[in-house]
Amino acid sequence: MTAIETGRVVAVVGTGTMGQGIAQVALVAGHPVRLHDAMPGRAAEAATALLARLDRLVEKGRLGPAERDAARARLRPATHLSELADAGLVVEAVLEDLTVKRALFAALEDIVGDDCVLATNTSSLSVTAVAGGLRRPGRGVGLHFFNPAPLLPLVEVVGGFATDPRVAQDAYDTVLAWGKTPVRSEDTPGFIVNRIARPFYAEALRVYEEGGADAATIDAVLRESGGFRMGPFALTDLIGQDVNESVTRSVWEAFSYDQKFTPSLAQRRLVESGRLGRKSGRGWFPYGEDAEAPAAPHTAAPEAAPASVSVHGDLFSASVLPELIAEAGIDVVREDDAEPDHPGWIELPGGTRLFLADGSAADNADLPVIHFDLALDYRAATRIALAPASRVDEASLAHAVGLFQALGKDVSVIADVPGMIVSRTVAMLVDFALDARARGVATGEAVDTAMRLGVNYPRGPIEWGADLGARWVLTALELLHDEYPTGRYAPSQALRRLAAALEDDAS
Ligand SMILES: NC(=O)c1ccc[n+]([C@@H]2O[C@H](COP(=O)([O-])OP(=O)(O)OC[C@H]3O[C@@H](n4cnc5c(N)ncnc54)[C@H](O)[C@@H]3O)[C@@H](O)[C@H]2O)c1
Repeated sequence: MTAIETGRVVAVVGTGTMGQGIAQVALVAGHPVRLHDAMPGRAAEAATALLARLDRLVEKGRLGPAERDAARARLRPATHLSELADAGLVVEAVLEDLTVKRALFAALEDIVGDDCVLATNTSSLSVTAVAGGLRRPGRGVGLHFFNPAPLLPLVEVVGGFATDPRVAQDAYDTVLAWGKTPVRSEDTPGFIVNRIARPFYAEALRVYEEGGADAATIDAVLRESGGFRMGPFALTDLIGQDVNESVTRSVWEAFSYDQKFTPSLAQRRLVESGRLGRKSGRGWFPYGEDAEAPAAPHTAAPEAAPASVSVHGDLFSASVLPELIAEAGIDVVREDDAEPDHPGWIELPGGTRLFLADGSAADNADLPVIHFDLALDYRAATRIALAPASRVDEASLAHAVGLFQALGKDVSVIADVPGMIVSRTVAMLVDFALDARARGVATGEAVDTAMRLGVNYPRGPIEWGADLGARWVLTALELLHDEYPTGRYAPSQALRRLAAALEDDAS
């Protein structure tokens, strides 16, 4: 362990939302902490606010009064940068502007000692660029905390092109000693979380733009079937539509306008109209005391279940469904007539086939087909989405609805969009994660940890992809790519290689 000793001063420059949170973490960990902000009086205000938060922690019994008093004695606002001369680590959390951050780092370098580490909390700028103007760029590193920093455990430790590996390791060890969960990331646009999470928002927005379903239904399906803590529409209302869109734009620009990261027109309109989310009283949904009730997700009225169904071939990650159907008292007849390696299906008495949504539209088949969406866990899911082809008659759709209702699920019937909602979202997240791993952005373990802790995903995408099978994910994306041949869904080389390697192993 080469964590910076607790006796050494940690300075935080920029005492807004993030700076205050980071200062609290370092202070509670035992360091003397200096706060500095360019706006006169702001550092002192931040110190007062931080101490008030410590008081609340004492009231809640999460911090001892003696610890609080000791912490108070270690905290000091600094009017001038020169007061940070003895810092062992400076974390900057100033305005997200490269010129401002570079100028600050240059000024700090004239003040602090040679062994002082200079860390940036930037979300979207290149750490290499922020540290690029330093005389010793090796001491520059990214420490990307998540908001609220005292509560969220994840910290991305970002090594820039010139970062000294020992500095990155010291920064990692320091954050670990502070009780956080650090993950190492290369200096790429969006680092780990803000890069890999893009499709979570983008696919929902695309389904909405295509008229697949409304925002409330898409959110409900991702929560109750996909297992995500919040749906993307409610989550971006919380983050701020402007903030979320600007992260999307900055990652898109940094990847030279790669199709895979294209921002959404619907979100642009929302931002332009001032519907920024909770902070403006309205985003995708209304907020505030006088707000009308938000729209409910589409939920089908009760229908009768069929007395029996037949199951043909392999249902892949939905293979538990026949068991659940039988448990619901519906006869399940097993048939062996599916082609090997082709997706299996559940057949309703009238001949309509239910397939797990891949990347195709249900209408592409010559038969009456209904797609059902992917669930994180079909047993635990409380909602399932169905997308019927146009040739499916009303009675068969009612049977399909009744079948899933008999399993205790709410059912949302959506339009026939390729890949539905959860399938296309998860397939893209898995592909983005595999691509990031293959390009050396982070290890698979770091990617999964970052997505679970940084954005609360129910599973890490690498692990999720392994469960779904690389072949299934690849097929889903190939079919989506056929539907939308823009390049957005072109499977990554990493996914294609992984699927091929697994097939070689199996043969
Ligand atoms: N808010 C988030 O959710 C979040 C999460 C992770 C990272 N970040 C990053 O953290 C940084 C700060 O974000 P924030 O949300 O806390 O911003 P904020 O607006 O709440 O605070 C920024 C503070 O920096 C001060 N400041 C501006 N220029 C300065 C300078 N040259 N020297 C000293 N102080 C200066 C401002 O007076 C302000 O107090 C940004 O780089 C942002 O991208 C933000």
